[in-house]
Amino acid sequence: MHYFHYKKNTLFCEEVSLAHIAEHVKTPCYVYSQATIERHFKAFQKSFQNSPHLVCYSVKANSNISILKLLAKLEAGFDIVSGGELFRVIKSGGDPKKVVFSGVGKKDEEIRYALQKNILCFNVESSQELDAINTLARKLRKKAPVSLRVNPNINPKTHPYIATGLKENKFGIPIREAIDLYKHHKNYTHIHFTGLDCHIGSQMLSLSPILETIKELKKIILKIKSFGLSLEHINLGGGLGIPYTHEEPPSPQQYITSALKELKDLKLKLLIEPGRAIVGNAGILLTKVLYTKNMPQKNFVIVDGAMNDLIRPTLYGAYQDIWPVQRSLASLGMTSVDIVGPICESGDFLGKNRKLIPLHPGDCLAIMSAGAYGFSMSSNYNSRPRAAEVLVSGGKFKICRRRESFEDLIRGETL
Ligand code: LLP
Repeated sequence: MHYFHYKKNTLFCEEVSLAHIAEHVKTPCYVYSQATIERHFKAFQKSFQNSPHLVCYSVKANSNISILKLLAKLEAGFDIVSGGELFRVIKSGGDPKKVVFSGVGKKDEEIRYALQKNILCFNVESSQELDAINTLARKLRKKAPVSLRVNPNINPKTHPYIATGLKENKFGIPIREAIDLYKHHKNYTHIHFTGLDCHIGSQMLSLSPILETIKELKKIILKIKSFGLSLEHINLGGGLGIPYTHEEPPSPQQYITSALKELKDLKLKLLIEPGRAIVGNAGILLTKVLYTKNMPQKNFVIVDGAMNDLIRPTLYGAYQDIWPVQRSLASLGMTSVDIVGPICESGDFLGKNRKLIPLHPGDCLAIMSAGAYGFSMSSNYNSRPRAAEVLVSGGKFKICRRRESFEDLIRGETL
């Protein structure tokens, strides 16, 4: 569900016309709907009812500080994977005590920063990382809260690049080894083992891999109890999918209700780390047609947005709907086109073989469901300044990140 809709054939974000935004902010730009983000976050929150929980929004999906600020106001926790993400959370008013820190390659300075800020938990992904955290915590005279991220070898049935819980993936600790580390908890004098963690993949469209994972986690918890350790929380990670076109993922409520049912005997606080399910459908990439070009084999629509702005189509072969900002009633003459950007690579496309109304230079298009892993994965490739970001709330909009300038491109470089 989202608040992008047509009014008299013009596409609106909430009560603001995207044609108006294109005129005032120029293109390409990302446009986010605040009401959609809030609605999705609350859908998770509400589903827990009275069960102890923390929804840790996964910052990597969209790390704009205006978005983090509005989630912090809704009492969100945050899932981070770098010192930079922790910095963003703190800048936006998020509470470090609600932050969990995931990732296979945490650096000493990042661990130190997180320890100094008293984060809620480190999701630890290897025994060497556990040693490093123990050593750094000792030096800072602290006890580091830790949950081990296990790799359960379960197939999330998603794109291979975003599957993370299979034994051939770099993520997590094999179950046997994790149990052994919990068993020897007394060796880690500056670690407080507070939880158990898992994240098996992203854009999951079925609950069965998640429920299978929970069964494995329950077995581990029972073992851990026998070592005289009592944990405080269990973390299921993120991964709930969204509709990019006709997919029908489980709702947050279906997901949380079935997870809670499986976990109820354990009496642990449940943490989750959704990213895409909160912001994915809440954003679009607004782009303008520069030229149309008919070649013997194909018709191309060349737009001002490109793979540096939105890499998902070319990196994962991801399909994202493309809607014209002005919808003509005479949609009879649909043509099949590739929507491509100005970058010098044939992989620079936003959509292939799309049936769209005839398009002309100056027409605007919305690449839908671009709120997650859109701007956050963008780059300056081809020395293209990164796009502006706009946050809409009701009938108002604000530029929550200005478009980069040429000067921004060379900031930090020397002659
Ligand atoms: N927690 C951990 C430890 C993660 O690695 C991720 C995502 C999440 C939570 C949030 O997952 P979500 O709820 O958003 O599925 N760039 C890819 C997605 C990469 C996901 C990486 N990890 C894409 O555009 O599809």
